[in-house]
Amino acid sequence: MTTARKYRFPLVLAFVSVAGIVLCAMPLVWSDSQETEQATPQPAIPEVSLVENPRNVLGVRGGDCKKCHPAEVAAWMRSSHFRSADTRLLLFKDNTAKYAAALDVKAEDLMGNSICADCHGTKSAGQDGLVNVVSGVSCESCHGAGGGDHGWLNRHQSYHESMPIPRSQETAAHRATRLEKCDQAGMVRSTNIYRMARQCFECHLIGNETLVANGHKLASTFDFVAWSEGEVRHNFFMDRTRNADAPSLWSSTTGSNAANRRRVKFVIGSLVQLEVALRRRAVSKNPAVMPQLGGLAAAVSGKLAQINAVAGTDETREVGALVTGMLGLLFVPQPTDEKTYTDAAEKVAKAARQFEAKHDGSKLAGLDALIQVTPPFYSQQYREKYRLD
Ligand code: HEC
Ligand code: HEC
Ligand code: HEC
Ligand code: HEC
Repeated sequence: MTTARKYRFPLVLAFVSVAGIVLCAMPLVWSDSQETEQATPQPAIPEVSLVENPRNVLGVRGGDCKKCHPAEVAAWMRSSHFRSADTRLLLFKDNTAKYAAALDVKAEDLMGNSICADCHGTKSAGQDGLVNVVSGVSCESCHGAGGGDHGWLNRHQSYHESMPIPRSQETAAHRATRLEKCDQAGMVRSTNIYRMARQCFECHLIGNETLVANGHKLASTFDFVAWSEGEVRHNFFMDRTRNADAPSLWSSTTGSNAANRRRVKFVIGSLVQLEVALRRRAVSKNPAVMPQLGGLAAAVSGKLAQINAVAGTDETREVGALVTGMLGLLFVPQPTDEKTYTDAAEKVAKAARQFEAKHDGSKLAGLDALIQVTPPFYSQQYREKYRLD
């Protein structure tokens, strides 16, 4: 067991000016057609357990990404993710005090190894072994812990084993191996839509029932497309009305476009919401929380019916049938067979991965009318701070 230490300095001090030396600001966005050759087929994504690879063993900090990704870091520093450790942990007020009391977390422990810091911050053990919150929700909270000898950090930006060569000279074989190794090391890249959605929902759908029973929201009104294209999108320093459509590393390497990506994200986001709701339901013991989880599953069921009406696929039809068959059971406020829900969650996960492997969105234009209902999402905090309205 590690002990927590009281936090002393405001987090912002940990981050020196982002306008610092840019050692290797790579043009991640390629607007020309330099790379229109057929993209190398993506290696199969290995099963990396997000549970065994938890967020609280992050090896490096946001600061380490800054020298090469200054724009991403600058954008992130404006987000409510970045500020969450300050607003919800450091400032011990309002509901923070209430939820912390309910879980018996002391004010001085919030910025240490607390359960709250699992979601509101990023923990790291110092040389003395003490665990402290080192940042808000960090790059690695979403992209996976990258440090260490076998981590993805060093490998992900190297186009040759030993020579510093530009991106355009990387061989297709090297690229395929590089990405495969990154995936194996737990990196969550733009291409890994399923895994990225899992990261979001692991935090945005709360598993701790005591927390929920004491008033903490069970789930965000999370729409994966809208919520990942507002303040989370790292290029919103551009014109906010079109940043989500701008070329990205993903579009330049796959030759696909933002509309296709949105359709895939829409379906996978819905499936992952269902998967995580089922996983929470499997271990739920609180009769007041169970129907809420049932409600989330029912909402996805409704969405799947809409999806299947306009652009159904084998995967969405299969999951649609599965969840419709379970709806009655889901609302019963009784501990039911854990295995039933876990098995169902596994099936949904498998369908989501299959969908990801089989569909690039180009044939799912029927979904656009459903997707456009929700515009890119900016938090209230963000709006107030940057006077968006
Ligand atoms: C030494 C420079 C360097 C550092 C440090 C660095 N990166 Fe990168 N990063 C790159 C380059 C170059 C690319 C483009 C790789 C490519 O072309 O596939 C990249 C790409 C990425 C991508 C997109 C990958 C994809 O396929 O979608 C993510 C995510 C990323 N980096 C995250 C991080 C994070 C998080 C950190 C800090 C923990 C970090 N990087 C530190 C240079 C760096
Ligand atoms: C599983 C992840 C998770 C854990 C654990 C967690 N939170 Fe949260 N919390 C969230 C998310 C996600 C939101 C934002 C919800 C939204 O706006 O959609 C949030 C919102 C909040 C808010 C603002 C909304 C409100 O209800 O006032 C406070 C305060 C808060 N959390 C405090 C805490 C405290 C204190 C703890 C520990 C006792 C804690 N949280 C544990 C994920 C978590
Ligand atoms: C809340 C989750 C989240 C956090 C925190 C986060 N990212 Fe990302 N990042 C994403 C998502 C989602 C994408 C893919 C965007 C899309 O869907 O088009 C992405 C894409 C990227 C890319 C590829 C950009 C491109 O041109 O395609 C890079 C590089 C990157 N992130 C680096 C970082 C760095 C560095 C940090 C920390 C400063 C960070 N990310 C923090 C979610 C996150
Ligand atoms: C490590 C946990 C964690 C992960 C992973 C995570 N989030 Fe969050 N997110 C939070 C917390 C906590 C908040 C609440 C911040 C606050 O108000 O203090 C939040 C807030 C947000 C907000 C602002 C909501 C509001 O109105 O305040 C958006 C948008 C968002 N997250 C999107 C995403 C997306 C998209 C992903 C995945 C790509 C993601 N998040 C991944 C923990 C997480």
